[in-house]
Amino acid sequence: MDKLIIEGGRRLEGEVAISGAKNAVLPILAATLLTSGRNEIRGVPRVRDVFTMIRLLRNLGARLESFEGDTIVIDSSGVNNPEAPYELVSTMRASCLVLGPLLARLGQAKVSLPGGCAIGARPMDLHIKGLQAMGARIELIQGYIHGTAEKGLNGNRIYFDTVTVTGTANLMMAAALSVGETILENAAREPEIVFLADVLGRAGANIQGQGTDVIIIQGAAALKPIQCRIFPDRIEAGTYMIAAAITGGDVEIIDCIPQHLEPLIHKLQEAGIQVEVGDSRLRVKGGNRFKSTDIKTQPHPGFPTDLQAQMMALMTLAEGQSIIVENVFENRFMHAAELVRMGAKIILDGHTAIVKGVGQLCGAPLMATDLRASASLVLAALAAKGESVISRVYHIDRGYEAMEEKLVRLGAKIRRVK
Ligand code: UD1
Repeated sequence: MDKLIIEGGRRLEGEVAISGAKNAVLPILAATLLTSGRNEIRGVPRVRDVFTMIRLLRNLGARLESFEGDTIVIDSSGVNNPEAPYELVSTMRASCLVLGPLLARLGQAKVSLPGGCAIGARPMDLHIKGLQAMGARIELIQGYIHGTAEKGLNGNRIYFDTVTVTGTANLMMAAALSVGETILENAAREPEIVFLADVLGRAGANIQGQGTDVIIIQGAAALKPIQCRIFPDRIEAGTYMIAAAITGGDVEIIDCIPQHLEPLIHKLQEAGIQVEVGDSRLRVKGGNRFKSTDIKTQPHPGFPTDLQAQMMALMTLAEGQSIIVENVFENRFMHAAELVRMGAKIILDGHTAIVKGVGQLCGAPLMATDLRASASLVLAALAAKGESVISRVYHIDRGYEAMEEKLVRLGAKIRRVK
């Protein structure tokens, strides 16, 4: 298994370009199952989750024509297998995004339940309830969700008890290829959901309200193949912004959408870090010291849970005490114990972490536990004194395109060993 070796203490300087958004491309790839033809998706990041989703689509009968540069061409005419097997779903929870499209397209689906993951139980009850409301019969047999809808799905009014991103995406995709009107209430408002709605709209569904918590979908009898370009990854951009701040550097983040990063921009500025906002670029200048700031994660447009771990790394070096409340997932502080091993002062109490800033972190052997936790360890290691060795970096490869190359170009001393 690969490891990253990071020699900390270097200021990051220069420009970094942001890749396409992982959490936008995964639902779009799943949505190709709703179409029958040649789908062309540009701006695709070369990250492991994308390759896992491609494997899954091929398993279902789609044909990958090409993946050259950042463009995927995938022909979905031959989709005929309704089964998403455990070995793929267990490595990537977002595989569950094929459930709604398979039911709508084939009238049946057999999708493995993802099970627990490092950041919590993450059930699928809301996806299932919604599909049942649309007329699907669902049974859980030997760890698999077996769904049938021989006569297709019908629109209905669906209320989500909790805001769920992939739940909203799954039901929106199912509704796009069903009969009548579906109203999703308490829907997710993430940019990735707005994008999916726009793409499905261009493919022939009539979708309104995306970006608000009520989305109304008029299903179509057939959808045209998808043509789109994925927008820049806000979590990747945010991670490099924090990298600039934590190393006291001066980094220009290019090819990004600053509006998607407002919660982070606001928090960094509150901490006394300079952030200059351009049209599609951001410049972050860190100083020697910065102040603590409190964070509460929330569904969009609140502070994203996917940047909580990285912000915690930053707060370990802030002046004063920061209170971080994780409201989205029940067990998303796995990085705290590793940061403590580097000399951070963190007390955990349920969903709350109290972080007391220290003057210096020290390099250490570290273990990556999930995607964003791993990013926080990289950030801490970049700022720490001495060498850190991060193992299980496959987590990072799931969602960050060419992270070491990008960091090296900014002046970091980081290398991968096999
Ligand atoms: C998506 C993102 C992930 C991000 C998360 C929250 C993708 C591929 N992944 O994950 O990066 O961290 O949103 O912004 O886009 N829940 C239920 N029942 C359900 C579904 C969810 O109780 O049926 C709960 C979850 O346990 C969690 C909360 O709802 O506590 C939010 O989860 P959800 O928005 O569904 O996360 P994902 O869509 O899996």
